[in-house]
Amino acid sequence: MSDPSPSVDRPNLHVSDHPAVLHKLAILRSTSTEPKKFREIVRELSWLLGHEALADARLRPIEIETPIERTQAFELADRIGLVPILRAGLGMVDAMLELMPTAEVWHLGLFRDERTLRPVEYYNKLPDQHTVDLCLILDPMLATGGSATAAIEVLKRWGAIRIKLINLIAAPEGVDAVLAAHPDVEIYCAALDRQLNDKGYIMPGLGDAGDRQFGTGH
Ligand code: PRP
Ligand code: URA
Repeated sequence: MSDPSPSVDRPNLHVSDHPAVLHKLAILRSTSTEPKKFREIVRELSWLLGHEALADARLRPIEIETPIERTQAFELADRIGLVPILRAGLGMVDAMLELMPTAEVWHLGLFRDERTLRPVEYYNKLPDQHTVDLCLILDPMLATGGSATAAIEVLKRWGAIRIKLINLIAAPEGVDAVLAAHPDVEIYCAALDRQLNDKGYIMPGLGDAGDRQFGTGH
């Protein structure tokens, strides 16, 4: 596989090079991985990427009592909103909630029209008032970037200012489309793949992330 360089002209793209991520990615991609294992790996990769995406989250100092003495410690100051894109983003939520148990979860339903490859919104559970400091959009796949761009636009109209996108696999076409439209957004992923095929699927990719998680698409 040719290796598109993440850092050239893409300062807001963070591609993990952690050995545990690369090991799990091979299992995720493989055709022989069944839905149960696939869901498990989606969850584990989400935790690892979420860990990286939270590295600059804001903290506030607190005082706590250990069994030995009183001491200074920290707690997360950012109110975090997780925005899974239905369906495939659902599999990333539990791991992110383990990392950030106080996060709010706001579901957005978007599917990609197979003919036009344009996103169609069918569900939006955002509240009227903007309630969080940092929004993490969760979607395993960033292909043309249409769905991610639409989700970011919805969140910005809602009032979101700090937005990060967490994907498992990204295509250069999608990364460039998102960063051209929203240069303020940071993208975290486990792999930057080669390119899209003529049906808009990522190569080498993993196929359809929703179908592989939920056992559909025969
Ligand atoms: C997949 C994926 C993204 C979108 C990416 O969802 O989970 O949301 O495609 O493609 P794009 O970058 O070209 O917009 P899909 O439309 O297959 O819906 P699903 O999650 O319900 O399977
Ligand atoms: N959506 C997927 O699930 N897989 C792709 O390769 C592209 C879009």
